[in-house]
Amino acid sequence: MSTALRVGVAGLGTVGAATVQLLAGQNAMLAARAGRLIEVTAVSARDRRKNRGADLSQMTWCDDARELAALDDVDVVVELIGGADGIARDLVEAALAAGKHVVTANKALLAHHSTALAARAEAAERVLAYEAAVAGGIPIIKAQRDGLAANRVLRLHGILNGTCNYILTVMRETGRDFHDVLEEAQRLGYAEADPAFDVDGIDAAHKLAILASLAFGRAVDFDNVHVEGIRHISPIDLAYAEELGYRIKLLGIAEDGADGVTQRVHPSMVAKTSPIAQVDGVFNAVAVEGDAVGATLFQGRGAGAGPTASAVVADLVDIATGRGAPVFGVPASALLAAQPAPMDRHRSAYYVRLMVTDRPGVLAEITAVFRDHHVSLEAVVQRARDPHGPVPLVFTTHETEEAAMAQSLARIAGFDFSLEPPRMIRIEAF
Ligand code: NAP
Ligand code: HSE
Repeated sequence: MSTALRVGVAGLGTVGAATVQLLAGQNAMLAARAGRLIEVTAVSARDRRKNRGADLSQMTWCDDARELAALDDVDVVVELIGGADGIARDLVEAALAAGKHVVTANKALLAHHSTALAARAEAAERVLAYEAAVAGGIPIIKAQRDGLAANRVLRLHGILNGTCNYILTVMRETGRDFHDVLEEAQRLGYAEADPAFDVDGIDAAHKLAILASLAFGRAVDFDNVHVEGIRHISPIDLAYAEELGYRIKLLGIAEDGADGVTQRVHPSMVAKTSPIAQVDGVFNAVAVEGDAVGATLFQGRGAGAGPTASAVVADLVDIATGRGAPVFGVPASALLAAQPAPMDRHRSAYYVRLMVTDRPGVLAEITAVFRDHHVSLEAVVQRARDPHGPVPLVFTTHETEEAAMAQSLARIAGFDFSLEPPRMIRIEAF
């Protein structure tokens, strides 16, 4: 057996500690698969005294993670600290400059800097691997880059944030409130250090931008992802969705169309019977449509220690065996420029929930606004009757343009009978 692949791990939190444990626990099996031992020789985190659930006594401890890049007995730096800039970026850049391979789970870093990092990795003839950065344990990067290499990808969509899917699932099943369920997701280690990244859709947008780049051969274009989170989803919307035959999921959707590339992350209603509607809890799913293969669906745990470490270790096995590919499937210099499609031209069906005063004429005034903007209604639901308080009034529309919807809702919000901001959820036909 040839010499060991020597690994320096930066960050020993949820993912880092699990990675060190997995490498130790599966040592012999991994050596057989990789053809050589994979050995952690150095680690870094902030608190040296914390118990990481693994024996670190034979490893060099670095108080400053950047020191890993300079160690002679490190061939691969595994960056599991997080953050688009700061120490994580410094470390990855230093590691590539020092001729080390890099494995990272850091989608924020990649969403902001991947084109430049990919160019650095290619210039240094080193691997920059990031399977764990998108959809946790699902091997979607390799599936898309290698397994679907024969396809022109037409469109992809997915549940890309386990925390949001967990929150929406538990809210639907139990009627519990958003904040209560978010705290639970944080305790379980699903949420990012700053949970706003999860619940405001930013984490899913990071992942979507990476997937879209791979899919369409274009430079990562995070700044043009349309992003909405799940803070405003209330139990009442989940209940109406159920009644209308839908589930609410935070989806990331990317499409390469005539107007350019659409990238959007927002709560979506999908038919209860669709495959993606069945994906619950912390599970993620990614559906990729290729011109040769047709529809594919990949599903698995998208967050948490074991699933994410599984993806990190798979990247290490690839490096140990000498498998490497351009970071985004084609050389960084061959990536096409981003070409964002305008969101206001997007067409969809919509769910709208208003909270209105219950008095004669309200419905007529609202439908007149929809008429003025050529929005065709599919259904109207008013169940409650309360002359003294707000009642929910729910509409679904036929396919219409985003701009018409936005203008209609801005006008409706201005009526004195409109007691809360209108809530709008796009209905996707998968
Ligand atoms: P985490 O639990 O917060 O762990 C972060 C680790 O980084 C901790 O061990 C921390 O040290 C260490 N750290 C922080 N600042 C440091 C510094 N300046 N120098 C050295 N070490 C430092 O985070 P995580 O959940 O494992 O996530 C790590 C990365 O994986 C992130 O990029 C995240 O987006 C990504 N990711 C996470 C998941 C998941 O399910 N958690 C899934 C996919 C991808 P101390 O322990 O000493 O404080
Ligand atoms: N916070 C992320 C999630 C972790 O909930 O999906 C995986 O990236």
